[in-house]
Amino acid sequence: MSGIPSVMKAAQQTGYGNVRDILILRDDVPVPRELSSTQVLVRVHAASINPIDWKFLDGTFSLVTRLSFPHIPGKDVAGVVVDVGSNVKRFRVGDKVYGNFGMGDGSFAEYARADESLLAIRPQNLSMEEAAAVPLTCETSYEALFTKLSPPVGAGSKILICGGSTAAGLYAIQLAKAVGAQVSTTCSKRNFGLLEKLGYPTSETNSDANQLHLIDYNEKDFGKELKGQDYDVVYDCVGGPEQWISAQEILKRNGQFITIVGDHMKSSITFKAAVSTVSSLINRKFWSVFGSAHHGYIFHSLSQRYENLDELRTKYFENGKVKPIIDTVFDWRKDGVESLYALYEKSQSGKAQGKLILKIADEE
Ligand SMILES: NC(=O)c1ccc[n+]([C@@H]2O[C@H](COP(=O)([O-])OP(=O)(O)OC[C@H]3O[C@@H](n4cnc5c(N)ncnc54)[C@H](OP(=O)(O)O)[C@@H]3O)[C@@H](O)[C@H]2O)c1
Repeated sequence: MSGIPSVMKAAQQTGYGNVRDILILRDDVPVPRELSSTQVLVRVHAASINPIDWKFLDGTFSLVTRLSFPHIPGKDVAGVVVDVGSNVKRFRVGDKVYGNFGMGDGSFAEYARADESLLAIRPQNLSMEEAAAVPLTCETSYEALFTKLSPPVGAGSKILICGGSTAAGLYAIQLAKAVGAQVSTTCSKRNFGLLEKLGYPTSETNSDANQLHLIDYNEKDFGKELKGQDYDVVYDCVGGPEQWISAQEILKRNGQFITIVGDHMKSSITFKAAVSTVSSLINRKFWSVFGSAHHGYIFHSLSQRYENLDELRTKYFENGKVKPIIDTVFDWRKDGVESLYALYEKSQSGKAQGKLILKIADEE
């Protein structure tokens, strides 16, 4: 392929530690030119960060996966296919794609290689930055609401979303509203304005099923606020045992609790945290079967299917039912390595108000 350089700008993680000690930005990283038969090469235009990216930095995640260094970080991506392996079926050179690289090549680079199964055609109405804001958090919420729960969230379901201002929560609100569910959510008062930007009428009471019901978690415990109100689902994007405990007050008999965080939301996965998560999972699964209320407990982790990204594109993004909310776009062409540090540090602060994007190239 002509036009593809031999070296590129890319972020590199040089070991385990703090962001400023182990992340560098280089101009001379080889472009990955060798493709297996099912891989594509993507010219990356934009990427986004997720908490999982910084949870991989300090090494305690090495219990699950050991990185080899230097390692290019980043998972969410939007870009253009510039080369295809001999047996690639779904893409051609020039296709605009989005997806999540999982544990493969990182997306904080000008070029990255991925198996075609990790990518899908990008929603036509989204810019590259908007498309990069979608994959991990939106697909996680999509799977949680529509494929992991039985019955799934649908018309008339009553759902409480813990953490409506998290990126995953912002998508969950829109997906649940799109199918006609009644939605309540916890968030801090400073984020009421952010949630109003989604365009639904909002209220601090849940007297009208059509309104998005906002609960300031700094002032109110949702368990007390909604006690006995027979919710079908509590979807937890925040974590901590208190979400499960409060959910017991509001779920109907056979209601379902689904979390994407579990009890340990701030730290990386330590051995102690992993043991404690597994034991609380077993404990809650036991009580969901043998307790009198039969509240189901599900720990959900993204399973990544390109069919989900296709469905999100056609049923939710291209018809405007769901839109990405972006906090900040960082650009390393202007601010160099400081933009990378700022990207990670804002995500680590836990204060993002929407997705944090790394812009890597302009759209032609
Ligand atoms: N299992 C999976 O496959 C999976 C996939 C995606 C994400 N996750 C996990 O899901 C969590 C959320 O990720 P994200 O990227 O969506 O988060 P995020 O966008 O970084 O979340 C930031 C937001 O959380 C709000 N927040 C903080 N504490 C809160 C609380 N106690 N109650 C309600 N809101 C609170 C913050 O606002 P205020 O501080 O003002 O409230 C801020 O707006 C992370 O732990 C992530 O690792 C898991």
